[in-house]
Amino acid sequence: MQKNILIGVTGGIAAYKVVEVASRLKKSGANVRVMMTRNAAEFVSPRTFQEITGNAVSVEMFGDAANFHVAHIALADFADAILIAPATANFLAKAAYGIADDLLTTTVIASDKPLLIAPSMNTKMFDNPATQANLNILRERGAIILEPATGELACGTSGKGRLPEPVEICAAVEKFFDSGNLRGKKILVTAGGTVEAIDPVRYIGNRSSGRMGYEIARAAVAAGAEVVLISGKSELEPPLGLKFVKVEAAVEMREAVLAEFDSVDAVIMSAAVADYRVKNPAAQKIKKSADTLTLELVKNPDILRELGGLKKSQVLVGFAAETQNVLDYARKKLVEKNLDFIVANDVTAAGAGFSVATNIASIIWRGGDVENFPKMSKAELADKIIERVADLLSGDKKFLPL
Ligand code: C5P
Repeated sequence: MQKNILIGVTGGIAAYKVVEVASRLKKSGANVRVMMTRNAAEFVSPRTFQEITGNAVSVEMFGDAANFHVAHIALADFADAILIAPATANFLAKAAYGIADDLLTTTVIASDKPLLIAPSMNTKMFDNPATQANLNILRERGAIILEPATGELACGTSGKGRLPEPVEICAAVEKFFDSGNLRGKKILVTAGGTVEAIDPVRYIGNRSSGRMGYEIARAAVAAGAEVVLISGKSELEPPLGLKFVKVEAAVEMREAVLAEFDSVDAVIMSAAVADYRVKNPAAQKIKKSADTLTLELVKNPDILRELGGLKKSQVLVGFAAETQNVLDYARKKLVEKNLDFIVANDVTAAGAGFSVATNIASIIWRGGDVENFPKMSKAELADKIIERVADLLSGDKKFLPL
């Protein structure tokens, strides 16, 4: 999510959970700034948020935020949206009535940006008619209120008032910004490399980091789609707001993909699926003995080719990671696998391929058109791929004969 998010932390015990919110938003690509009330700074040190976000944290109306001349105006200008989490009853009352007695509340009133509020407090405080009336005032003015969860509260009681889990808060922020290009559509993305067991300890793997596929899944969520990400091996944190399915071997990935295929509008198959697997993986760890060891490999199912045969109205997108004759090989795969378009790249080129954050790709369409892209971040390329899938699904781009 390439957005500027201003998080306002008020003085509730749940403030510690917002450290994870800031961290997740930052990892998803957002530029995050944090402002805190003095009470909040009693619960979590501003320094923690500073380290997590890489940005100075503002608490005082006067004195800190050295680069900001008029701090509350600068913070309000910075934000694409303001998230208040946790929001105390005191904050809700002040925001409802326009009281501006510290940096945080002054920034809120100085802002015309979207306001997302995650209240968190004891159930009686939440249910108090004053709090409910304040929430209604804020709602009527367009604030998005994230309903508190029900469960155990810090005060030892149980009831409504818990701050929602950080993933849920982040998903709500992500959803708020979705472009809507894929709203109502379900998209299946595969990513990462498959892991083919040799014995319980070793495996055959590949250099795929999962980065391209995770970016595509993120871009699909950002376009408003319901997204299923089926991932082989990857060290990355899954993007927010999607169904995440972790698999190991190609055979397992095939099953997971086929289980979703009938219900999806498009499949983007960016996983690096092993072409072969070990015929008889050993049940116990193979011991070192002879000088040579021979593994017999058998061919894995070609998942995308199978989907190409089953395809009804689904858009199918494949990847061709090559080391030579990139366009020729890619075209061949497009036809063999009955794809709508294929994303081809030379994985040996500098700034392209495995693990790096950039890619240099071409898109080859059914019908033969080729789009050559300059070097760009995988996030940007993912946005381009998702735009094209959205164009095909909305009819802005025609389905072409092979
Ligand atoms: O044939 P090749 O492996 O080069 O094709 C690459 C494309 O096919 C990728 O989109 C990859 O995810 C998919 N694929 C697959 N099943 C395989 C091998 C590749 O779905 N066994």
